[in-house]
Amino acid sequence: MTLLAVRDLTKRFGGLTAVDGVSFDVHEGAIKAVIGPNGAGKSTLFNLLTGFEKADAGQVTLAGEPLLGRRPSDIVGCGVARTFQNTQLFEELTVAENVLVGLHRRLKAGLGRSALRIAVRSEERWAEREAARLLALIGIERWAETPAADLPQGVRRSCEIARALATGPRVLLLDEPAAGLNRSETDALGSVLYRIRDAGVTTVVVEHDMGLVMEVSEEIVVLDRGRKIAEGPPLLIQKDPAVLEAYLGEEPDDEL
Ligand SMILES: Nc1ncnc2c1ncn2[C@@H]1O[C@H](COP(=O)(O)OP(=O)(O)OP(=O)(O)O)[C@@H](O)[C@H]1O
Ligand SMILES: [Mg+2]
Repeated sequence: MTLLAVRDLTKRFGGLTAVDGVSFDVHEGAIKAVIGPNGAGKSTLFNLLTGFEKADAGQVTLAGEPLLGRRPSDIVGCGVARTFQNTQLFEELTVAENVLVGLHRRLKAGLGRSALRIAVRSEERWAEREAARLLALIGIERWAETPAADLPQGVRRSCEIARALATGPRVLLLDEPAAGLNRSETDALGSVLYRIRDAGVTTVVVEHDMGLVMEVSEEIVVLDRGRKIAEGPPLLIQKDPAVLEAYLGEEPDDEL
C-alpha cells in the first residue's frame, strides 16, 4: 500500500528550480532512499514534505491525506517526522530529555502540569519508559544522561533519530544520517534502520554513503538538478546510465 505519495512536486528559488516536477510513492513498511549529487534538491524535497518550505506546485499525501500547506508541527501530528542534515538538538538537555521533548506532544496532560496529578504522574512514567525503550532501540541507552553538547557525532545523529521517533511517526525522513560517521558507526546505523523498519515505521533516507544506501534500501529515487532521473531497486540503479552520468566528477565516496 502507498503510504506517502509525491506528485509533480516543484519548488523554485528565484530562477533556480530546486525540485522540478518530482513524483514517487513510498510503500508502507519500506526503506526508500533518495540520492543525487550535491545540490540535487534532496534536502529541499524534505523541507517541502515537512512544511519547512512552501511548494510552488504539486501534491503530497500521507495515507490519502494532503500534507502541503500545513505547518511543520501539524505535519508531525499527521505522522511525518524528520532529522536534519545539520543535527538540531537541544544542546543543554541530556539525550533522554531531548527524547522526552519529542514525546511531549503525545501526552494528554502535558509534562509538568499538575492539575490532574495522578494522570500526569502516570503519563510521566509512561514517557520515561518510552524514552528508555527508544534509546535502547537506537542503541544509545548508555548516553541517556549526557548533555547533547557533549556527544560524539555518531551519537548526536542517533539522538536526533530517537527524538524524531518519539513523535510516533508513520514516516521517518532522515537527511544524511551517516554524514560524519565512521565505517563502524555507519554499519551500526544500517542495523538501526532495519530495527526502525521492523518497529513498523516507514523510512525515507537521503544519503551519500552508497554502501549504506545499497544495503538497506528496497528502492531508490535519484535526483539530479531538481529532476527525478531514475527510480528502482539498488541493483538496477547502480547500472543506470543516467545515474552514472549524473555522478561523474563527484568525490570518490559519492561514486556508485
Ligand atoms: N533557501 C534557499 N534559497 C535559495 N536557494 C536554495 C535554498 N535552499 C536550497 N537552495 C538551492 O537549491 C538547490 C538544491 O539544494 P538542496 O539543499 O536541496 O540540495 P541537496 O540535494 O540536499 O544537496 P546536498 O547533497 O549538498 O545536501 C541548490 O542549488 C541550493 O543552492
Ligand atoms: Mg542536502
